[in-house]
Formats: sequence, structure tokens, C-alpha cells
Amino acid sequence: MEKNFDWENLGFGYIKTDYRYVSEYKNGSWDEGKITTDENITINESACVLQYAQTCFEGLKAYKTEKGNVVCFRPDLNAKRMADTALRLEMPPFPENRFIDAVVNVVKKNISWVPPYGSGATLYIRPFLFGKNPVMGVKPADEYEFRIFTSPVGPYFKGGAKPIILRVPDYDRAAPHGTGHVKAGLNYAMSLHAICEAHKLGFNENIYLDSATRTKIEETGGANIIFVTKDNKVVTPKSPTILPSITRRSLMYVAKNYLGLKTEEREIFKEELNEFKECALCGTAAVLSPVGKIYDHNNIINFPAGMEKMGEITQKLYDTLTGIQMGKIEAPEGWIKVIE
Ligand code: PLP
Ligand code: COI
Repeated sequence: MEKNFDWENLGFGYIKTDYRYVSEYKNGSWDEGKITTDENITINESACVLQYAQTCFEGLKAYKTEKGNVVCFRPDLNAKRMADTALRLEMPPFPENRFIDAVVNVVKKNISWVPPYGSGATLYIRPFLFGKNPVMGVKPADEYEFRIFTSPVGPYFKGGAKPIILRVPDYDRAAPHGTGHVKAGLNYAMSLHAICEAHKLGFNENIYLDSATRTKIEETGGANIIFVTKDNKVVTPKSPTILPSITRRSLMYVAKNYLGLKTEEREIFKEELNEFKECALCGTAAVLSPVGKIYDHNNIINFPAGMEKMGEITQKLYDTLTGIQMGKIEAPEGWIKVIE
């Protein structure tokens, strides 16, 4: 039975649940890991994570299906992406099979926190990994902690399915050959100033350009982006400096194989924005959030789908993807991990 909670009005924020998973890495290996109730972490003042931001994270969700099962969506891809991120940050990857087992374990322990089917809320799962022991010179830690906590969440953007407004900032997110393609905490630290500025100016998010030429669309601070052309092709930016979103990869598959639409992953130039009829952000937290307008300084791009509701193709993609996640539509093999 679920906890008694106002699930329908939940936003996207941290709510402490009962259990979390923790495993420690020392002397070159990971311990057996355990479930704990302690949400606090005590670390040395010179821990590598505090001084040199040696930390990375993942995000996935557990869903209650129509039949009452609890499932999560493609956790193997989060496990793989976290291992890739860890290697880029000189951290020991947490073994991918153990990552999936730990996700299952921690969700099972917090099963009463999985929001009911149809409430619009889900249980967000946050695995993270950080360098723990003191360092002084710039070098990686030798000791690490891998943790997973959970938190019930509602829509990432207030207003749920209402289209949002983006702006093109004068800041960049990721440099060529940098860390834009991995989920390093540092990518988010550097976005905080830009997001605060965007909010102050009345925008919901920043849409970043490629930093090498500042002519191409990349992604936002916390989501990838898709566009729909006037002839219903689903297009998404191809770039080595954006995070390979699991939601975006799944949506492109859904567009092609479930909806019979043409899809294309290619460079998208800022000049082309006027040619698309729909635009949406995609990610675990964002799900599929429609974009109504983009402000590029004095140039305003109004997507024809408008500011009232999702465009027609975006809605179909949303319904199919969430239908798969919530067990209403049959999933491609291997996409759904049944927890209970
Ligand atoms: N891009 C960024 C920068 C993100 O933080 C996220 C969130 O995880 C995404 C894209 C979407 O990725 P995913 O669909 O795997 O959650
Ligand atoms: C996610 O979608 O899981 C994210 O990590 C995005 C954001 C909360 C940083």
C-alpha cells in the first residue's frame, strides 16, 4: 500500500524516503554494500568531492503500472552511462550488474513510496558516486562511496504539460573534448548561474549552443531536445558534447517503430529553428516537456504548436512512451525491469 500523500500536487523536489543503498570502495575494491536508513554522510573536509568536484550521478524512475506492479525503465542504460562517466572522472565504476541489483533492492525497500498509478507522480531514483578521502594536490581519490536514494516526484516544470519558454544564454555548457557527454556533477555546478539568471528574466530553462561555433543547438541544463518538422519528421541534435539521454534514445525508437514516423539525428543550426512546428525537452525528470517559445536575444521563435498544449506529435510520443513505462503498451524487449 502506498503512503498517504498528496501525490497529485507533488513537484520535483527531495523528499526523504526510508531507505538508501550504500557501498564503499577501499583498497581497490567495492564492499558488499548495504541498505541503511541514514541519509547523512560524514566526510573529511578535504574529500576530493568537496575540493575538486569528483562526483557523478544518474537519474531513473520507478513506476506503478496499471496492474499494480512496480517497474523501472532501462536501468541497464543508466548503469552503463554511470560507468562511462566514472571512467571519465578517474573513478572506479560500480559494477553494472550490481548497479541494477542495488536499484531493485532500494526500490523494494521503499515500495510504499512508489506513487499510485495515474497520480502523475513517480519514484525518482538517484544513484551517485563520489571521491571520499582527503586529497590536497589535484588527483583522484582512492576511496569512494556509491549510493542510491529515492524520492517521490511530480512534474519537473510547474504546470506539467503547459509549454515552457527557453532562452539562448550567453554561457556555454560543454566544450569539445570536455565532459558534456557524461553525467558529471561539475556540468550542473557550472549551469547554476545561467539557470538562476534565466529564471530571474522569466525563462524556464537555457538552451545551450555548441561552444565551438555557437551556431548549433545542443540541449538544456537537464534535458535533451527534440523537434518535429512540418512534415512530421522527429529530429534531434547530434553532437559529441551532449548527454546521451535514455529518454531521447527511447523516443526516437518509439517514433520510428511504434508511430511509423521518420527520424533523424543530425546537427541542428539555430537558423533552422523557425522551420520546426514542435519542440520538446526530453529526459527522466522532464519526461517530454513541450516548448512554446525560444528567445534568442531579440529574436523570438514561436513554435506553431503554441503556448496552450503539447503539439500533436509530441502528445503521441508522450502517450506512447509513458504508456510503455506504465505497462499500458507492450515494451520492446529488455526495456522494463519488473521490481515487484
Ligand atoms: N541532458 C542532461 C544534461 C541531463 O541532465 C539529463 C537528465 O538525466 C538528460 C539530458 C536526459 O537524460 P535521460 O533521458 O537519460 O534522463
Ligand atoms: C534527470 O532527468 O534524471 C536529471 O538528472 C535531470 C535533472 C534533475 C538534473
